[in-house]
Amino acid sequence: MSSYDLSSELISYWDENKMAHPLGKADWTDRDRIKYIVETYSRRYDMLFWKNLVELVGTQKRDVIVDFGCGPGLFLVDASNKFAATRLIGLDESREMLDQAKIFIDERTSAVSYELTVTDFNEVEIPIPHSSVDLAFCGFMLHEMASPQNLVEQASRTLRSGGKYIVYDWISGNEEMFVRKMTEQGMSHEQARLRYPHMCKHSLDDIIGLMEAASLKDVKGIAVNDIRGLVVGLMK
Ligand SMILES: C[S@@+](CC[C@H](N)C(=O)[O-])C[C@H]1O[C@@H](n2cnc3c(N)ncnc32)[C@H](O)[C@@H]1O
Repeated sequence: MSSYDLSSELISYWDENKMAHPLGKADWTDRDRIKYIVETYSRRYDMLFWKNLVELVGTQKRDVIVDFGCGPGLFLVDASNKFAATRLIGLDESREMLDQAKIFIDERTSAVSYELTVTDFNEVEIPIPHSSVDLAFCGFMLHEMASPQNLVEQASRTLRSGGKYIVYDWISGNEEMFVRKMTEQGMSHEQARLRYPHMCKHSLDDIIGLMEAASLKDVKGIAVNDIRGLVVGLMK
């Protein structure tokens, strides 16, 4: 797969004909969907996100960074540069997403080793040794999980002492704002209403509860805006 032409017109990711499941999981192998995730990255991972992330995790060097559901790998690229990582691990159920992640990591990072592995978190154990990761991340993915608690627990076990786990996702609580923002981005009003319960499955407090139940410490959450939230927990 070649790198996408990011200057091309935003594709109609939300075309109802492409939604195999109107409320649930998308087809993450679809080329247009991968392109949409790439094109919306800088809007989802905006200055507010990075400001809040740095507030929660600081700026210290983090050698090993893992992204659960890394998609096309753009967070791994930025985190690698920001935290001076020496090793990146990206896991995702979509081989096509990981093919794109490989292109971006090769093009945009230097002096970093990496490993990209097809993994379905609903089906298999996470293939990462326990106590080996400095920074674990999961962006816009937790709401896709059949058992979010299982993923949070498995992800937490990969952390070294002092390591941090970050969950970033849509949050429930403001359906009107969600519908407004999604329609501004090309989703039909009807699709936005239908998708709200799936995409905004958890509140900030729900995610904090999942992290605390996984025995992470000093768990803190921040609403980045009305519809996006960040939660960070520490492995002691
Ligand atoms: C909305 S995309 C987010 C991608 C990336 N984290 C980002 O924010 O740009 C959700 C990603 O989660 C992956 N995913 C969904 N369900 C999964 C599962 N059960 N196991 C592993 N990956 C999954 C998809 O393939 C997709 O790449």
